[in-house]
Amino acid sequence: MQEGDGFILFELNGKRALVTGSTQGIGKEIAICLAAYGAKVIIHGSSSLPKCREVMDEIAAKGNKAACVVADLSEEDCGRKLYGQTGDIDILVLNASVQIRKPWYEIKPDEFDRQVRVNYKSSLELIQLYAPYMGRKGWGRIVAVGSVQQYKPHKDMLVYAGTKEAQMNMVKNLAKQLAPKGITVNNMSPGVIATPRNEDALNDTEYAKKVYEGIPLGFAGDAKDCSGAVLLLCSDAGRYITGIDLVVDGGMHL
Ligand SMILES: NC(=O)c1ccc[n+]([C@@H]2O[C@H](COP(=O)([O-])OP(=O)(O)OC[C@H]3O[C@@H](n4cnc5c(N)ncnc54)[C@H](OP(=O)(O)O)[C@@H]3O)[C@@H](O)[C@H]2O)c1
Repeated sequence: MQEGDGFILFELNGKRALVTGSTQGIGKEIAICLAAYGAKVIIHGSSSLPKCREVMDEIAAKGNKAACVVADLSEEDCGRKLYGQTGDIDILVLNASVQIRKPWYEIKPDEFDRQVRVNYKSSLELIQLYAPYMGRKGWGRIVAVGSVQQYKPHKDMLVYAGTKEAQMNMVKNLAKQLAPKGITVNNMSPGVIATPRNEDALNDTEYAKKVYEGIPLGFAGDAKDCSGAVLLLCSDAGRYITGIDLVVDGGMHL
């Protein structure tokens, strides 16, 4: 849609985007959506190049542009490994995460470290590597994927929820610091979204019924509900939005 003053609300032609964890689920839909609006999207996964290629081919089959890379974000120096493969980008979507479900008294040190490493520490590392180019160009978009658990922690995901809350604080801090460089930094927090991650849990009818009772809209979201929200934050339609948490949860946080 063309506006009177010349900017196009939803259009990403000429932009390069990296979506971490885009082999499946929410990340995959975000990648497909950004590519559909003109961005060249880099698909990323933890280890399997063929899995990334499937998404890349799906995007290419629609006549849109994609590439793919692998890097395990739990590894030391994963940021440099990833940056070395992608080069500079205009849009960074920090979507990959690790979620280990268990009661707080059973959490092991290595499980704590892995979640902090992938969900929080790597986010800062990637922003440190990718933001300088965005700053030099005077245009950039960074979207972190959070969780409704920032508002409603789950008893079996204490560390996971903590990493998302820490990442949100980083989003607010950097939104203020990077705004003068033309870079917006936002969070998009999904509620219950049907993806491979929670397929087994949601197939348990009793469990699913209890979950849906806690969602005012009464149903699980689709990954597409999240991709539209990220598109808004990445395009000119969202150019005046920075430092927010866009919660996509059917009202679950209320
Ligand atoms: N689904 C929900 O209801 C929900 C709710 C709240 C928040 N979220 C958040 O939304 C995001 C996407 O969730 P989802 O349900 O779509 O997840 P998912 O289906 O489990 O997919 C996770 C993605 O992250 C990648 N990944 C996992 N560990 C990685 C690692 N160590 N290094 C690099 N990549 C790694 C996976 O790549 P590989 O396939 O290559 O391993 C995959 O592409 C996450 O940040 C999650 O916390 C989801």
